[in-house]
Amino acid sequence: MKAIDIIHAEHRALGAVLQAFRFVLDGIRDGRLDADFELLGALIEYITDVPDKLHHPKEDDYLFVRMRARIPEAAALLDQLEADHVQGAQGTHALRDALRRYQSAGATGFAEFETAARSYIDTSWAHVGTEERELLPLARQKLTPEDWAGIDAAFAANKDPWSGPTGQFQALFSRIVTMVPAPYGVGPAAL
Ligand SMILES: [Fe+2]
Ligand SMILES: [Fe+2]
Repeated sequence: MKAIDIIHAEHRALGAVLQAFRFVLDGIRDGRLDADFELLGALIEYITDVPDKLHHPKEDDYLFVRMRARIPEAAALLDQLEADHVQGAQGTHALRDALRRYQSAGATGFAEFETAARSYIDTSWAHVGTEERELLPLARQKLTPEDWAGIDAAFAANKDPWSGPTGQFQALFSRIVTMVPAPYGVGPAAL
C-alpha cells in the first residue's frame, strides 16, 4: 500500500469511529442506549491512541518533513496541523478523566462527559477534514516521485501501519464494531 493510501485509509477508519461515537452519545442522551462503559472506553482508546501512537507520528516524521522541504507555502498549514497533533495528545488524559468521572457519578455525570467527548470528536473531525481537503491534494500536486519513494519506503518499514505493530488497533476496531449498535456496528439494538 502506498503512503497516501495508508493515510486515507486511516482517516476513513478514524472517521467511522468518530461517527460511531457521536451515534452512541446521541443514543445515551436521547435515552435509546444505556451507557456501556466498556464501549465508551474502547471508543476513547481508539480515537486517542490511533492518532497519537500510529497516525500522527507518520505524518509528522515523514510526510510533513518532506512537504516542508519541498513546499514552502505549506508552512502555515503544517504549523497548524502539527499544533493540532500536540493539542490532541494533550487532550487524551482529560478525555479519559472525564470518562472516569462519568462512570463514578452515573447518569448525572453524562452532560459533562458529553461536552468533553463532543469537543474532542469535533476537533479531530475538523483536523482530518483539513488534511483531506487541503494537505493531501497539495502533497499530490507538489511532491515529486522521489519524495513519494522516500515516504513510501519509510511507511513500508513500519510493517503493517494500518493495524499497528501487533495488529492491536485492527483488533480494537473489530471489538468496537461488535459493541456499537446498528447501523454503525453489529452490537445489540438500541431500545
Ligand atoms: Fe494529522
Ligand atoms: Fe491525518
